[in-house]
Amino acid sequence: MSQQKETYHDYVIKDGQFIGRFDEMYQQFDQPWMQDKQPNPYSRQAGILHLKQFGIQSVLECGSGLGYYSQEIYRQTGIIPQGIELSETAVSRAKSLFPHLSFTADRVENLARYPQVDAILFAELTWYVLPQLSDLFAIMAEHFPGKYFINNLVFYKNTQRYGTEYFTNLREFIDYVPFPVVGYCEATTEKDTTIETSSIFRIEPK
Ligand SMILES: C[S@@+](CC[C@H](N)C(=O)[O-])C[C@H]1O[C@@H](n2cnc3c(N)ncnc32)[C@H](O)[C@@H]1O
Repeated sequence: MSQQKETYHDYVIKDGQFIGRFDEMYQQFDQPWMQDKQPNPYSRQAGILHLKQFGIQSVLECGSGLGYYSQEIYRQTGIIPQGIELSETAVSRAKSLFPHLSFTADRVENLARYPQVDAILFAELTWYVLPQLSDLFAIMAEHFPGKYFINNLVFYKNTQRYGTEYFTNLREFIDYVPFPVVGYCEATTEKDTTIETSSIFRIEPK
């Protein structure tokens, strides 16, 4: 039997199990998630609309990857996001692709180090930090009260295997977050296997 060729997915979630070898993945693959193609166009645009709608002037993009979404935010709003990303390989590539932007190798678990921003953005990060989510919300409540949390996340149409015990659609996600939701949207097309979502919450103290 011939062995199946590895894909970047094998380094992230495989057979419903979290693997999380992100830095090795970036060393092996040039464009995981086709980041240069601005995937999930509806939710990306909705995230940018949320920034504009709520008068947000500064944003911390957690899990900023190769920096393409930060660049799109900058192009459309003039905001230079602070990107943090656990893979040093990704950060070094983001820095050379977008030298006018700001990227640091750091984990989302350290977001309290960046208290000066108006909003925290998770763009396609949440599936990879499920066990840490309640701690992350506690950090937000302590260090970012009155600010915003924006979450862009795709859900899978009837095929999700990982994380179903947390949430399986946008409504369940909104119910899971301990802050009031102040805006949300979801979108898909007939041919897509995913539903794109973007939601924004006002962070409240505990
Ligand atoms: C699907 S990519 C999204 C990249 C970018 N936000 C975008 O929308 O194009 C998710 C990124 O989160 C990063 N990541 C995963 N766990 C993380 C953590 N605990 N702290 C910081 N970054 C993390 C991964 O290395 C990966 O680059």
